[in-house]
Amino acid sequence: MKNGNTEMNDMSSERAKFSQMAEGTAADYKIISDNFRTFSKELPDRVLSHLKLLEGDFGGFAVDRLEHSLQCATLAHQDGQDEEYVVAALLHDIGDTLGTFNHADIGAAMLKPFVSEKIHWILEKHGIFQGYYFFHYIGLDRDMREKFRGHEHFEDCAHFCAAYDQTAFDKNFESASLDFFEPMVRRVMAKPKQSIYLME
Ligand SMILES: [Fe+2]
Ligand SMILES: [Fe+2]
Repeated sequence: MKNGNTEMNDMSSERAKFSQMAEGTAADYKIISDNFRTFSKELPDRVLSHLKLLEGDFGGFAVDRLEHSLQCATLAHQDGQDEEYVVAALLHDIGDTLGTFNHADIGAAMLKPFVSEKIHWILEKHGIFQGYYFFHYIGLDRDMREKFRGHEHFEDCAHFCAAYDQTAFDKNFESASLDFFEPMVRRVMAKPKQSIYLME
């Protein structure tokens, strides 16, 4: 492979010696851990690059998916939501490219180490809750969300869709630029709160 981060990592001269993990040594994993530290710090760059893939992807909507994402984040920001929430709003549909049949799971999984359990739940379930606004037009049950009625985050997810996600398709809306949100993405993703790979 000769593209993106693979090429970048190829610039590192030191490599582990093993051909099977069972033969790995502490010295090998010192090299690998050093690489991981650099690679993990570059996560926001990869995320922002991937988000830009949504540009030009209209899917029949009046605005493309990048503009929808920016509108959603702008609305949340204007409404006084905190930075973690705004970043979640910005990235909630980032899975549209690879998760065509389960896009909500992708953004939720990607942000899981960096956000609260509530925000993760909103991200993960927003696809079902957003369906309240259109599932009945495509032969699905708009009340699919009802199976979660009574859950502690039900109203939070309903609000995310009502106030930000379902309203963010306005081609006349003046959303903030991706540059405006970039420092927020970097701050929120600066340090994971939970991960099986947490070191130090
Ligand atoms: Fe979505
Ligand atoms: Fe959305």
